[in-house]
Amino acid sequence: MTYDKDEEAKPLWLVGYGSLLFKPPLHDKAISKSFKKFPGYLSGFARRFWQSSYDNRGTPEQKGRVVTIIPAAEIASHDEFKDDILHYELHSQEHCNEVINNAKLLHNALKVWGCIYYIPPKYAREASEYLDFREKDGYSSHKVSFNVVLDSKQEQDPRIQSIMSKLPKNKAGEPVIDSIVYVGTIENESFVGPENVKKTADIIRVCKGDSGPNIEYLLGLNDAMKDLDPSGRNRSHDPYLEDLVNFVEKN
Ligand code: BEZ
Repeated sequence: MTYDKDEEAKPLWLVGYGSLLFKPPLHDKAISKSFKKFPGYLSGFARRFWQSSYDNRGTPEQKGRVVTIIPAAEIASHDEFKDDILHYELHSQEHCNEVINNAKLLHNALKVWGCIYYIPPKYAREASEYLDFREKDGYSSHKVSFNVVLDSKQEQDPRIQSIMSKLPKNKAGEPVIDSIVYVGTIENESFVGPENVKKTADIIRVCKGDSGPNIEYLLGLNDAMKDLDPSGRNRSHDPYLEDLVNFVEKN
């Protein structure tokens, strides 16, 4: 991400849907204590372990698997993605065959639960330089709207109320934040594309890289996803992730 003069005065709002959920940016530095983290979701994406990793969770000889998010518009216009999305995200959706082929309907049907970090203006540049390095294998930064779902303790915190009150709201009354997310787009060299979940599990079980075993990444993400939805309605449940964890643990 490049920085111009205007951006220097702004905080960085950074979305996490993968390793950032369990490993905050600059986690080994004291400044990370000033970052704030809120749960919520992105509309219009599906999360998959369809990005290969030759560095953090694998090697050039034995590439691991890490997550990326696929936009609804790409899914609706590429037949090769559709069966997987119909199987996991749309299995109980009415008119699913209409939805999967219509980017707008699909955008409304898909949600990726995750978190957003508030990084104060004075640390925004350092954090994005750190991430550009940490996620060098195929990821690029993109602008997205993140929907915040505060937990009850956060809702009562006057400092958080003051930040949230200035933000626009979605139809559900949830604050919406213009933010940055790192995505392994379908054109990047490390994008694997649709892969049988058993094959992905077999790869994750054996690979390791500079940041540790691939399985640690999967289980770290799975743990961080539990109870992410503060409403207690378990809206953050991800059937694809659950299937993948089951396959990895079965063998
Ligand atoms: C994440 O945790 O959201 C993430 C961070 C960098 C690259 C990809 C995903």
